[in-house]
Amino acid sequence: MKYFFLLKQYVLYRLKAKSAHGIHSPFVYDFIETVLKDQRTYYAFEEIASIRNVLLQDTTSINVEDLGAGSLHKSVTKRRVKDIAQHAARNEKFGKLLFRIVEKYQYKNMLELGTSLGIGTSYIASAAKDGQVITIEGCNDIADKATETFASLSLTHIRQRRGNFDQVLTPILQQPPSFDLIIIDGNHREEATLAYFNEIMPFIKDDTLLIFDDIHWSRGMHKAWQTIHSDQRVRLSIDLFFFGLVFFKKDFKEKQHFTLKY
Ligand SMILES: C[S@@+](CC[C@H](N)C(=O)[O-])C[C@H]1O[C@@H](n2cnc3c(N)ncnc32)[C@H](O)[C@@H]1O
Repeated sequence: MKYFFLLKQYVLYRLKAKSAHGIHSPFVYDFIETVLKDQRTYYAFEEIASIRNVLLQDTTSINVEDLGAGSLHKSVTKRRVKDIAQHAARNEKFGKLLFRIVEKYQYKNMLELGTSLGIGTSYIASAAKDGQVITIEGCNDIADKATETFASLSLTHIRQRRGNFDQVLTPILQQPPSFDLIIIDGNHREEATLAYFNEIMPFIKDDTLLIFDDIHWSRGMHKAWQTIHSDQRVRLSIDLFFFGLVFFKKDFKEKQHFTLKY
């Protein structure tokens, strides 16, 4: 049923999604041309790909606590690392996109909700070696694996926080510095996603970017995404099907929403 919903949403997305042609927003046009279409490869891409391959072959079983709705599969207490790498880790296409976004807009202070094995974190951290990334994971064994990922890649500017988002998010947001980029990638449920959005909103700066993952993977997430991008405080939103990007710049006088091909 969920797969059917996702498939239907994907077909609708493909019918609606636009390329740069006919886009009148200079910011969005530039985003398409210089970020979405950028084909450059970076040394970090190879390094992260090789860590992913190691994880994809890791048959160790670890304890996994079910803290959210991050999987289309039945929740289990023991899972093989290779299965987590296969189903929960950021895929290469969107990992590279994250890297390019951080590089393009020079984000320095970043927060990620949902570390998993640390693949997504590694892309953003590799794009800002002089920045700082805080990443939150509620499942201890998974967080231990992410620690290994960061050590293998010598990414010393990542700070891991362990705990449930419900308990640790606000205290993190209250500490300086404020974040330029926040990625919400865990507990993919409507109420939880809206709760994180509302919790984050008081800490938003003019140039903060929020990225929501898996915005169409269920009816609930689809509804949460509609609510978020319709919020009057949001000045520009971009739907890339798997990612929803949310900008708050006051310079964007007219509130706009785009569905873009990617
Ligand atoms: C989809 S995975 C994250 C993938 C990762 N961001 C990447 O790019 O590779 C979601 C992670 O969020 C964690 N998670 C889900 N709900 C949580 C919660 N309420 N508190 C803390 N962690 C949670 C899960 O344990 C899981 O590891």
